[in-house]
Amino acid sequence: MASTISSEPRGVLIVDLGTQYAQLIARRVREAGSWCEIAPPRKALETARRMHLAGVILSGGPASVYAADAPEVPRELLDLGVPVLGICYGMQWMSQQLGGEVQAAQEREFGRTSMAVARPEGLLEAVEGRTVVWMSHGDKVERLPAGFEVYASSDSCPFAVVGDTRRQFWGVQFHPEVSHTLRGFEILTNFLARVCELPLDWKPGNIVEREVQKIRETVGPDGEVVLGLSGGVDSSVAALLLHQAIGPRLHSIFVDNGLLRHGEREVVESTFREHFKLDLSVIDASERFLGSLAGVTDPEQKRKLIGRDFVDVFQKEAQRFAKATFLAQGTLYPDVIESVAVHGGNTAVIKSHHNVGGLPDTLHMQLVEPLRELFKDEVRAIGRHLGLDPRIVGRQPFPGPGLAVRIVGEVTRERCELLRKADHIVTSEVEAAGADKPLWQYFAVLLPVKSVGVMGDARTYESCCAIRAVESQDGMTADWAYLDHELLRRISNRIINEVRGINRVVLDISSKPPATIEWE
Ligand code: XMP
Repeated sequence: MASTISSEPRGVLIVDLGTQYAQLIARRVREAGSWCEIAPPRKALETARRMHLAGVILSGGPASVYAADAPEVPRELLDLGVPVLGICYGMQWMSQQLGGEVQAAQEREFGRTSMAVARPEGLLEAVEGRTVVWMSHGDKVERLPAGFEVYASSDSCPFAVVGDTRRQFWGVQFHPEVSHTLRGFEILTNFLARVCELPLDWKPGNIVEREVQKIRETVGPDGEVVLGLSGGVDSSVAALLLHQAIGPRLHSIFVDNGLLRHGEREVVESTFREHFKLDLSVIDASERFLGSLAGVTDPEQKRKLIGRDFVDVFQKEAQRFAKATFLAQGTLYPDVIESVAVHGGNTAVIKSHHNVGGLPDTLHMQLVEPLRELFKDEVRAIGRHLGLDPRIVGRQPFPGPGLAVRIVGEVTRERCELLRKADHIVTSEVEAAGADKPLWQYFAVLLPVKSVGVMGDARTYESCCAIRAVESQDGMTADWAYLDHELLRRISNRIINEVRGINRVVLDISSKPPATIEWE
């Protein structure tokens, strides 16, 4: 959806100079209450000119300003007449452009550093005394450009915070966006509120108002929209925004593929049909999906069959709404940001991910993407603001192919039922113990292994399931999580006693990499 909205918010542009933290900076800025966008250097000027610009943040980056492969940053970014905050590499680049001197370092300074504030004003308003900051740099500024003054320094870095209040150009040699920098959020907030004079009103209520208005502008007074509702937080919040914007002209479709978790379909039906009064079609296509999966054990084959069936079923259902020319998708901002390829090259396909949003363009429909400019944290905040069921807002990620990729070996209705029961015990026990907070995901996996057991006096020969619980920031890497022994004991007892067909429970203690989170 193009950003041609009349009430474009004022905000800052974050120029990604190759840092791993560009999205983190943006999330902190949004959290502080300001609108922002991220652009790579070659798109920075055009984005700045399109935006209602209040300031520029130049991110850190791995390069040296002297390196041949240093990003080419347009000098005009310093002539836009708005405040600029340079972080680490961004500060070095700015200093060099303005006539300062940057010294190539022999070694890196890395980690927590104590910084002494000399002038608690401007960027450092109310940040007094000594405070801990997170440094991660090689080169550093050796001589300041004319007009700059020192606001804070550390033992090894005399220019930890510098500023030119006439132009409102500021530089910090550390990373205010990471949580190790104790007053980092305040420093960023000072930049936004005091230096850029932003009103800090980017809050759920205003976001909803803006997105609803944008949807109305895109869809027009008569347009109709179809949406694939998965029950995940993204498609759910997209559905609520669209519903608020166009009411019954939104047609939501939920496909029950027979691979859902315990109670999932019921929560979706009661939330969206009964509570929010959406026009919701629930298609029971479990026969078809399970039929396709019969005899299939190869993980990629499973994923492909499920993806294909989903598109067919959805397409057929969508055609019932002849007047609908728009297709809604829950695409998020991280999916559309162009990142700077620091380490180029192609990534190997580990798994062909599939989710409800990923429909091919054979539908020939125009896309509406109401979450396209939002981060997941904002989507959750909007969900809460709109009164969405906490079970949906806080839902752990669940793969599009559902339980099929957690049933190693053949997927049958019976094996789905076994896993569904075991998984429900894992999730409800983890939640009841309050152990879910630090976890990214926690679930059960059904293994293609049978083993001998004894129950009462009788021999059993039944299936085995694994408990998988991981901590992660974004699913790209993950650590297996420590679960309390009492909790594990309860889960294991309950599964073995209550799920007929499982007589053994094991714990998966593999991190990603080299394992992946899902087993298939
Ligand atoms: P892996 O197993 O690759 O999973 O370590 C990383 C994260 O992605 C989720 N996942 C999927 N999500 N469609 C999705 O929408 C998929 O096909 C899919 N496969 C894995 C997984 O649950 C984890 O959070």
